[in-house]
Amino acid sequence: MKDIYPPIHSKAPVFLHGGDYNPDQWTPDVWEEDMRLMKLAHCNAMSVGIFAWAALEPVEGQYTFDWLDRIMDMLAENGAYAVLATPSGARPAWLARTYPEVLRVRANRQRNLFGQRHNHCLTSPVYRQKTYTINAKLAERYADHPALLVWHLSNEYSGECHCDMCRASFRAWLQAKYGTLDALNHVWWTAFWSHTYSDWGEIEPPSEIGETSVHGLNLDWRRFVTDQTTGFMRNEIEALRTYTPDVPVTTNLMGTFPGLNYWKMAPHLDVVSWDSYPRWHKPGPDGMADDIGLASEVAFVHDINRSLKGGRPFMLMESVPSATNWMDAAKVKRPGMHALSSLQAVAHGSDTVQYFQWRKSRGSAEKFHGAVVDHVGHENTRVFRDVADVGAKLEKLRDVIGTTVRPDVAIIYDWENAWAMNDAQGPRRGDKGYLDACKRHYRAFWDRGVPVDVIDMDQDFTKYKVLVAPMLYMLRPGVDERIAAFVKAGGTLVATYWSGIVDENDLVFLGGWPGGKLREALGIWAEEIDALYPGEANQIVPDEGNVLCLSGPYAAHDYCDLVHVEDAEVLATYGQDFYAGRPALTMNHYGEGEAYYLATNGDDRFLSDLYGALCADLDVLRSLKADLPRGVSAQLRSDGERTFAFVMNFNAQPTSVDLGAGSYTDLLTGEVLTGVVELGVYDVKVLTG
Ligand code: GLA
Ligand code: ZN
Repeated sequence: MKDIYPPIHSKAPVFLHGGDYNPDQWTPDVWEEDMRLMKLAHCNAMSVGIFAWAALEPVEGQYTFDWLDRIMDMLAENGAYAVLATPSGARPAWLARTYPEVLRVRANRQRNLFGQRHNHCLTSPVYRQKTYTINAKLAERYADHPALLVWHLSNEYSGECHCDMCRASFRAWLQAKYGTLDALNHVWWTAFWSHTYSDWGEIEPPSEIGETSVHGLNLDWRRFVTDQTTGFMRNEIEALRTYTPDVPVTTNLMGTFPGLNYWKMAPHLDVVSWDSYPRWHKPGPDGMADDIGLASEVAFVHDINRSLKGGRPFMLMESVPSATNWMDAAKVKRPGMHALSSLQAVAHGSDTVQYFQWRKSRGSAEKFHGAVVDHVGHENTRVFRDVADVGAKLEKLRDVIGTTVRPDVAIIYDWENAWAMNDAQGPRRGDKGYLDACKRHYRAFWDRGVPVDVIDMDQDFTKYKVLVAPMLYMLRPGVDERIAAFVKAGGTLVATYWSGIVDENDLVFLGGWPGGKLREALGIWAEEIDALYPGEANQIVPDEGNVLCLSGPYAAHDYCDLVHVEDAEVLATYGQDFYAGRPALTMNHYGEGEAYYLATNGDDRFLSDLYGALCADLDVLRSLKADLPRGVSAQLRSDGERTFAFVMNFNAQPTSVDLGAGSYTDLLTGEVLTGVVELGVYDVKVLTG
């Protein structure tokens, strides 16, 4: 059965290739040259107007669209499209001067001066009205323009505001949520340290000069900031919808940016997009670059973006063609890495490859940030040729547009869980290693070319064979029941230490962990948890003849949960310390399925052996039926009938992969490939069978 999404906009059934374009920084003769270069670079989409408010409305109420009219026309004349931005990411100086309340107030109650960007109050009715008006003007003017393809809302929404309006709004939000102060005082456990509130007006957002110790407050504040940002974004969308109901909207997200819960924003977007800036070629502590580990981490984030809309292709809105100027060392991409990292995004579901930026600016903060067109101003550069090469490659991948992947495996990475866990004191200070744990579990699948969805705990689990839930500290209402039902119906659950500890309000479950139905599904209860110092280790010693054929012993770090089995079987025990011999890995037959509990943070070899065994037993979907050498990744896209396996070599050396009995055509070269296939340094092949 066909399983294919329409292109981002029906008028452009092509891969979008291009970048942030700021013609308002340049003169019209440069625009002419940009068009010539754009065609040479095989670019067809420019993100225009992202920070152009001052150029669009230089004086309040006086609009100067003429330059943008010309750019839109030029794009259309040259067969290209505009990813047209709303300008709310940075405001003109006059707006801040006339309406100082639009400027953000910090947690220490100091109001920012005019400057920077992403610096607006989330609540200010004036700022919302001003953005609404300019958005509506843009939408009205370009509604029927042939170049208009996608709306790019603002830019990288982020941050919080502590002004009087935002604080009042927070209190109203809390009132709507809890109804009574008694209810709020209970779930925030304010009796602790005598923090009981007796009036709504006493509640202040978390601040370094005020409250930080009420964790329920911290959590609700983060939820509020997401809601307020989403509200601001919806106001922007509303203005556009009035004139352009059929033009899709997106906003550029920032991967696992901790400040906003993207699962709450994604439903309001037509297409998800994100900005990816990996530190390729960065040497690790041993002086060697670990591009392989990094590639797996980037893949994890691409998969979040694809999962945010249930598998719908996303947009790689920003990436760098060469060096990123804000990194400690602005390393240039080694030959081959630009095509590889661009096609990696496509492999995981992107239908675009876009850059920050098209033309390097001449002055200000980003004048040395990588761009397609360098200060030298012509096309005879390595970077320009690399970009043109990616454009030419994308033109060969047309059949991939709209295709996706339907993995058998899902990993839960949940923003609220991260917020609550990292805020807690204990079992370690600060970052508990949650994101890192999710990425390490993910790596075991990535190494095998097993596609994975990365979802939050509110998504549907029933479509997966394997559900991996590392450190599921928080259980929102019903999650434990849905997980238990998933296992009962035949699913395989992998849960770990530090799971089922608190409810959605960060109140600890009483009566034994993991809380709720999770305990029954896992067949264990966890009595206490031992935290290890960096460098300390215990051992996981598998039992002889265990069902997963694990041999071990494996190293265990960070946390050792001391659990009692209730219904579960013990598959491995600790090797050391006073808890040597107690369960380190258990498995519970529950209904038709199995629930595994990893009581400790096993090393990479442990995770690899564990998931290797599970993937084989459960015959999970693989991108390519081949054993992949280290550093080679395979990722599948399919339209339900035809398959496209992206095979990518992240090694800085050539390697080879044995395709076994299969015969494939490489879409990039047209070559027919069978048997052992050589992969050059950073090589990519797109195999269709
Ligand atoms: C972000 C922003 C861009 C630009 C780049 C530079 O992603 O969205 O405007 O500043 O960073 O890397
Ligand atoms: Zn504010």
